[in-house]
Amino acid sequence: MRTSILELQKLKNAGQKIPMVTAYDAPTAHWVEAAGIPAILVGDSLGMVVQGQETTLPVTLDEMIYHGRMVMRGSSTALIIIDLPFMTYQVSIEQALTNAGRVMQETGAGAVKLEGGVSMAATIARLVSAGIPVMGHVGMTPQSVHQFGGFRLQGKSEDAAARVLADALAVEAAGAFAMVLETLPAALGQQITARLHIPTIGIGAGPDCDGQVQVIHDLLGLIDGFTPRHARRYATLGDSIREAVRTYSDEVRQQVFPDAAHSFGLAEKISTEAGPSVNKQAESAPVKH
Ligand code: KIV
Repeated sequence: MRTSILELQKLKNAGQKIPMVTAYDAPTAHWVEAAGIPAILVGDSLGMVVQGQETTLPVTLDEMIYHGRMVMRGSSTALIIIDLPFMTYQVSIEQALTNAGRVMQETGAGAVKLEGGVSMAATIARLVSAGIPVMGHVGMTPQSVHQFGGFRLQGKSEDAAARVLADALAVEAAGAFAMVLETLPAALGQQITARLHIPTIGIGAGPDCDGQVQVIHDLLGLIDGFTPRHARRYATLGDSIREAVRTYSDEVRQQVFPDAAHSFGLAEKISTEAGPSVNKQAESAPVKH
């Protein structure tokens, strides 16, 4: 069984922090789940960290469904939450319902996430009334990057903080089961978390949120030369990839790889039973690394 939205609420009620990360493919979903992550976000951040785009805006619904299905296949216990990308829910409530319905039906995920506060409350309420669990997202909402003039800290002034709080309250009142708070002063993250009954999941919103979410590429050091201030590198996988591939490449050039242990002998029978060129022994032999 997968983590349910009720279990996330229980964690908040019990004062236990909720660790979340993003994943965009099956092996990553497998490994983060093996690390004990209870909920995985298939974020539209994939537009930036997987597709190499400047913003999340070009990501399409079909792409989110494609990645969502991979993450579902790679996991079995985590709650999977899939972002609705830009302009797939803002046009009308009907559009949001149709597209959120597609995500749920075509991926099997447990919830969707959408960005926006007061202006999205009616949409959230409609999705929830249709049985679609919705995670909200307020503060620095990346789909509004051009409106903000960049990926900037939000809620800095008293007025701006009051607006973010009003957004958070509206999203909760609309029936969201949890909410991302992104790039806010820590004191505001703390204040919103104290006011809400549903779990807040922070990213750059301070330590007092009920949980934290990080983009997996930031956490693993997969983006060359840039780590956002709110992220900590727990590994330097980019460096590991470069070194591993450099070693492989050197070994190919120096004819060290493949060696006998990674090659097949003459005695191994080529079978045509299952179609041409299928080497049965190669198929059944355990893969040696
Ligand atoms: O798209 C995403 O990965 C997100 C997180 C940064 C919260 O929305």
